[in-house]
Amino acid sequence: MNEQALSVRDAIITRRSIKNFNGQPVDPENIAEILEDAAWAPNHGNRNPWRFVVAADKGYVKFLDILREYGVPKWKELSEEELEKQMKKFTGPGAVSFVIVPEDPRQKERLEDYAAASMFVQNTMLLAWDKGIGTCWKTPGFLDNPKFREELGVKPGERIISMLQFGYYDERPKARPRKPLEEFVTYYGEEIEEA
Ligand SMILES: Cc1cc2nc3c(=O)[nH]c(=O)nc-3n(C[C@H](O)[C@H](O)[C@H](O)COP(=O)(O)O)c2cc1C
Repeated sequence: MNEQALSVRDAIITRRSIKNFNGQPVDPENIAEILEDAAWAPNHGNRNPWRFVVAADKGYVKFLDILREYGVPKWKELSEEELEKQMKKFTGPGAVSFVIVPEDPRQKERLEDYAAASMFVQNTMLLAWDKGIGTCWKTPGFLDNPKFREELGVKPGERIISMLQFGYYDERPKARPRKPLEEFVTYYGEEIEEA
């Protein structure tokens, strides 16, 4: 079993989405370990409604070509300088993975599967955080581009729900405060008890 440094609570409340990675590569073995553990996410019917395409190491370098193709509009018309600037958005993370979920024709099952895969992603983010690896769930428009999907081997009836970036960072971003508890929780039956 992997050693865990953070308590579950500390992992949850200290995790931040990392938007400024420092470019240090992430070892694919680290990602494999994280995904193996994250797969203990709850999921209805044990359908395991997820699969991942990971681009790390040489795969990540190769991958930048298709990111340029689909992620930078009209990249062929840009100056080298401008292209480099645009590509900086993608080159920071040390690895990236695509979270692919089946699109069940039944609405209930489809929602359950999306929910389960999202839990998988949160597990992934917390386990990565515990190893000092930052993550960010990204949903750029090109995830639905048919040619991009084809490049990744995404089949009809599947959807890429996340481009999940992994990487090291120099600074932990400030927390984006959440609404206070009183604003999002009410207690059922409270008024009846008080009456
Ligand atoms: C479903 C989902 C989609 C997201 N898409 C993006 C995105 O496209 N670009 C981005 O910069 N952050 C994206 N995020 C990250 C959020 O911006 C981030 O979680 C939010 O700012 C709160 O910051 P924190 O995670 O550090 O608490 C996404 C998060 C979720 C859960």
